[in-house]
Amino acid sequence: MKKIFITRKLAGRGEALLKEKGFTVVVFEKDCPVSRTRLLKEAADADALITLLTDKIDREVINALNKCRVIANCAVGFNNIDVNYARNKNIIVTNTPDILTDATADLTLALILACARRLREGELMMRADKFKSWKPQLLLGLEMSGKTVGIIGAGRIGSAAAKRLIPFGTKIIYYDRNKRENFENEFGAKKVSLNTLLKTADIVSIHIPLSDGTFHLLNKDNLALMKKSSILVNTSRGEIIEEKFLIRMMKAKKIFAAGLDVYEGEPEINPDLLKLQNVFLLPHIGSATVETRSGMAELCARNVIAVLTGKKAITPV
Ligand code: DGY
Repeated sequence: MKKIFITRKLAGRGEALLKEKGFTVVVFEKDCPVSRTRLLKEAADADALITLLTDKIDREVINALNKCRVIANCAVGFNNIDVNYARNKNIIVTNTPDILTDATADLTLALILACARRLREGELMMRADKFKSWKPQLLLGLEMSGKTVGIIGAGRIGSAAAKRLIPFGTKIIYYDRNKRENFENEFGAKKVSLNTLLKTADIVSIHIPLSDGTFHLLNKDNLALMKKSSILVNTSRGEIIEEKFLIRMMKAKKIFAAGLDVYEGEPEINPDLLKLQNVFLLPHIGSATVETRSGMAELCARNVIAVLTGKKAITPV
């Protein structure tokens, strides 16, 4: 019987789908990242792995896979896997694109609005029983209408974010390696250089995957270009921003607010971030809806089933 190792209990019917096919499914029983020792042990006789972004699937793990044919990563991002090395070993790597696009774009909007309208400060004020009177200048935020949004990465999630932003009366510009004609036509968006985007946008939203080429794409040299009245939102990967420099900018109030769902070196959080009033922090929940997380798990299972029954993977990376 073929064995599938899943590194965490997942939402939805993914596990059931695998069992219905007659596979032996071993699920790591704790709700925390699987230890290296256990991962290496389970990898040795697994025909497939279903992994999470918290699992580092590097050469050591891939070398431990004696008969594995597919690693199904339960995320659209796959920076946790040495994909080239897996490919050299004839192991297919799959991810979960599309299915989490809407959920992540929804969360992007939530962060933008939370930053623009200072929701965190308002909520804290209520809980601290500090709302004693309506005041003409209480928690003044920023209006969406008429603002320019700079989308970094005009792919699926960037497009879904733009689609949600247009009805607010915003104008879209974008930075991307490629010219995205559909994006330009659909949103009347103009492609600009990264520096122009950072200088011009009132709201900057990051939607590119993490790779060697995008590590610290926003860094001490270019973050300083952002407007004092601007908002920066990241729902992609923390390492795309040189966080310590962002913190320095936020401390000096060089940008209006930041909304972060992801962090450099997460789940460790730079303690300075926690002290800042103008930063809205979330625990990497971009895709965390019942529908999406179930769909992601099921897509992983369907990828595994496809490969192990001799068919093509549905969403290979
Ligand atoms: C992803 O899929 O890459 C997200 O960051 C987690 O859902």
